[in-house]
Amino acid sequence: MSIRTVGTTPFEGQKPGTSGLRKRVSVFQQPHYTENFVQAVFDTAPGLVGGTLVVGGDGRFHNLVAVQTILNMAAANGIGEVVVGRDGLLSTPAASNLIRSWKAAGGLILSASHNPGGPKGDFGIKYNTSNGGPAPESVTDAIFARTQVIDRYKLLADAAPIDLSRTGETYLGAMRVVVVDPVSAYADLMATLFDFAAIRALFAGGFTMRFDAMHAITGPYAHEILENRLGAPAGTVVNGTPLEDFGQGHPDPNLVYAHELVEAVNGDLGLQFGAASDGDGDRNMVLGPGQFVTPSDSLAILAANATGVPGYAKGLAGIARSMPTSQAADRVAEALGIDCYETPTGWKFFGTLLDAGRATLCGEESFGTGSDHVREKDGLWAVLFWLNILANQKKSVAEVVAEHWAQYGRTYYSRHDYEEVDSAAANGLMDHVRGQLGALTGGSLAGKPIRLADDFAYTDPVDGSTATSQGLRLLFEDGARVVFRLSGTGTSGATLRIYLERYEPDSAKQGIETQEALADLIAIAEEVAQIKHRTGRDAPTVIT
Ligand code: G1P
Ligand code: ZN
Repeated sequence: MSIRTVGTTPFEGQKPGTSGLRKRVSVFQQPHYTENFVQAVFDTAPGLVGGTLVVGGDGRFHNLVAVQTILNMAAANGIGEVVVGRDGLLSTPAASNLIRSWKAAGGLILSASHNPGGPKGDFGIKYNTSNGGPAPESVTDAIFARTQVIDRYKLLADAAPIDLSRTGETYLGAMRVVVVDPVSAYADLMATLFDFAAIRALFAGGFTMRFDAMHAITGPYAHEILENRLGAPAGTVVNGTPLEDFGQGHPDPNLVYAHELVEAVNGDLGLQFGAASDGDGDRNMVLGPGQFVTPSDSLAILAANATGVPGYAKGLAGIARSMPTSQAADRVAEALGIDCYETPTGWKFFGTLLDAGRATLCGEESFGTGSDHVREKDGLWAVLFWLNILANQKKSVAEVVAEHWAQYGRTYYSRHDYEEVDSAAANGLMDHVRGQLGALTGGSLAGKPIRLADDFAYTDPVDGSTATSQGLRLLFEDGARVVFRLSGTGTSGATLRIYLERYEPDSAKQGIETQEALADLIAIAEEVAQIKHRTGRDAPTVIT
């Protein structure tokens, strides 16, 4: 087999965002498009030549095509060894785990997370570094810079596609290819963190739950872990076969897109627990009958109960949450006497804290929770953590939540998304709010005094790197917050996110419906940002 150098020219906009390069499938299908990006990674990321690369994706349309392209190019670029999931499949947390356990130089994860798949859906490529986490900005900037000047990529001429349907070893040119079971190493890792015996006993005692894999990657993982290893009855996992188009659904576990699960748990099936994960397996939603657990509360509750779980029995070094995530976890950290870090949106900002041993648990309001066991958020991990708590405490989800609120207070929290808004209008709205920040600091809105209004900026306490313009914050004296942010992951137009939060320590006032409890803050957001006028929308597209 010989190496063929193909001349090419740069594509515009191959800038990997917080979650890698994410575009419509048709964009990735353009001749040379995927190759340019992959070559830019191989040209810039350290340690790959002669080293190990992990490859796999969430099984969405175009996954296998991209995997074969990457394998071929990896061989032509002198990568020593590729570890790839059978059928090209790997959940994002499982890929992160393999990068770490194989001591790989990095990994290419193929996914557009919770975005719809299929020929008309989205596709994505993300590069993770040797710690298993999303590449930091210095690396993605270098990749991007390379995509701007790229003029050639390398292929292995006359190489047949690798058979990915069976585990085992083979060679592509001089490169070793190891096809691994995508599930087993991950399932083994979970068994080291959680009390599988206790969870097995919980199921044996008749506990019933439903896990909705949303036709995406976590199906095989959940079948193996929940049903095979933990003894949950067959049928516990629904929509458990990954489909290229996710059954034409939107594999995003929230109250809107996972409403079937919500209805099932609240219906008359007698289910005690419900959970779902997203396209690539890093997000989670958990709920019990009559009790949806917000991701911000979930982080706080996991932290408060962590020492009852084997993997965290020694206690937590610290907690990290993204800025828009509610402050519920801060109150637990305070009670535990540990640090709580507030980082910009995006999992990559947790990496340095996890690597330095300063944080053990991390979370984002966007249904992301995780720990230092990998360097990605991890959907099934969060579900198992909840199961471990339920098995320990023999209480319902609602009881666990109520007791948490009684002890720490309740944080009413909601996110309002305005999707596919005209980009100019969305930027205009942000500029309009930004222009008022100075005057709002120390002032008040609707009679509520404002402590600080700012544009969130972050300095990483470990490596000193900085990030600016991470969201516009109105911080009220009473701990309430309104935050405005534009999404960095959308693929058409702009998505405006408004995060609303209010703290209620008084148990007697913790039973209000969330939107009602936040009504004054919703009105303030409208007053400050002229949302209806500027977006032309009467209401958010999605409320979570
Ligand atoms: C969204 C979430 C963010 C998460 C990211 C990747 O980003 O809000 O918390 O890290 O997806 O899953 P956004 O679209 O808000 O930029
Ligand atoms: Zn995801």
